[in-house]
Amino acid sequence: MDIRFVTAGSGEVVAVMAAEGGELLAAGKALDSASGGRIAKAMKAAGFKGGAGQLVDVLAPDGVDFARVLVIGVGKAEAADGMGVERWAGHAVKRTLTAVEKLVLQPDALPSVAIAEAGAHAAMGARLASYRFDTYRTKLKPDQKPALKAVEIVLEHTAAAKARAEVDSAIVNGVFFARDLVSEPPNVLYPESFAERLRDLETIGVEVEILEPVAMEKLGMGALLGVAQGSARPARLVAMKWNGSSVKKQKPFAIVGKGVTFDTGGISLKPGAGMDEMKGDMGGAAAVAGAMKAIALRKAKANVVGIVALVENMPGSNAQRPGDIVSTMSGQTIEVLNTDAEGRLILADAVWYAQDKYEPVALVDLATLTGAVIVALGHEHAGMCSNDEDLAHAITSAATAEGEPVWRLPLNAAYDKLIDTPNADMKNIAGKPVAGSIIGAQFIKRFIKDDTPWAHLDIAGTATKAGPYDDPLSPAWATGYGVRLLNRLIANKYED
Ligand code: BES
Ligand code: MN
Ligand code: ZN
Repeated sequence: MDIRFVTAGSGEVVAVMAAEGGELLAAGKALDSASGGRIAKAMKAAGFKGGAGQLVDVLAPDGVDFARVLVIGVGKAEAADGMGVERWAGHAVKRTLTAVEKLVLQPDALPSVAIAEAGAHAAMGARLASYRFDTYRTKLKPDQKPALKAVEIVLEHTAAAKARAEVDSAIVNGVFFARDLVSEPPNVLYPESFAERLRDLETIGVEVEILEPVAMEKLGMGALLGVAQGSARPARLVAMKWNGSSVKKQKPFAIVGKGVTFDTGGISLKPGAGMDEMKGDMGGAAAVAGAMKAIALRKAKANVVGIVALVENMPGSNAQRPGDIVSTMSGQTIEVLNTDAEGRLILADAVWYAQDKYEPVALVDLATLTGAVIVALGHEHAGMCSNDEDLAHAITSAATAEGEPVWRLPLNAAYDKLIDTPNADMKNIAGKPVAGSIIGAQFIKRFIKDDTPWAHLDIAGTATKAGPYDDPLSPAWATGYGVRLLNRLIANKYED
């Protein structure tokens, strides 16, 4: 889909804004007066109130150059922000994606969104809403396929919006990369093939290093390899480095992702219903990969290292057993009491490796770690635990600005104590069903060095979501959650 910024749009279909109360904004008002009030009349007849996402499809109004005018609500004008403009454009694309070849968007400035910003957000929203995962749909009828080839965004001055939208297209690329990775079936996307897809990032200037099991063995990554040993598909650990800082020697910011390409639970086997969704248990790794892609495509002036631990968690004659004790790269030992608490095991070695090798200024890990975070926060917020106030605040504000919100959960010694065991340095579950998401974070924290500012994002509820997929900016099961958040976090810290 091609996005163009123009000073006058032409085509069959145009979308304009209206605010709560049912009032058209300036662009719509101009069309309405050209039509002799037909548009306002249609809005009234439809009971249009201007609520966010409310839509009136006005067909064949006289006196205007368009055959169809989509009036779409943005809610209260004073409260509308950049994300509101994105959703507005997203609704227009959602409405036209399979039916129209060209769409004209006429955004207006809002009390807290300048017109150039509104134009750029409209482009972002239009792009995000066009996402589809049709790779394996061989029998789609023409009217089920995307038809929309061009979106024209009408602005009096196009340069500023155009420049911003070019940068934003890197971010959309990263989000789509993450969504695709999460959507791919587990027979196609497994540790080796995932690593190969990451290898492609070399073409955009990312240094990619892939560790195979022999190397991991040498490093002492017994926890990661213990999870992988039940699968015929060998593990991979991939480090992606972007060195965009003008201070070449500057220590990197590290982002680390859980990449379980399929989680059966292992010997602690999961129940069958819905198990297919565990192909998405690499959502953390996908977010890290997507963020690295976005950061490299927009040539971020920052040093960032992305590390993903890729395994498949399977039962089998060589699978690890409940009761096994594994030793980690850090030297600490773990009693594995539940093989389904595997994410923390692979992260134990991945975060240690990240700190040991790169001495990062800070480390953020993302993982579809616990079902408990879905019980607590649903699909709306990711759970966040952190040992550092500044990092936690920086994440919260980046997350809010990008529409990928987080909610902080506590850490403390009393929770930590629950993973003590007489048999090893720690066990991988608490043994009672309490505070599951915090316990997961406390476990990872045992592999974070005291002076590393760290945050853990449990994205089990936000990497994918329950249908209906009616959020126009996230129109499929896989959301790509985390890419925008991480990109903004890096931009705020190093660039703005
Ligand atoms: N991958 C799951 C968590 C998950 C659940 C992600 C639902 C997405 C949707 C994780 O590996 C897991 O199985 N966690 C266990 C931990 C428990 C054994 C302590 C869980 O949440 O039940
Ligand atoms: Mn599991
Ligand atoms: Zn898992």
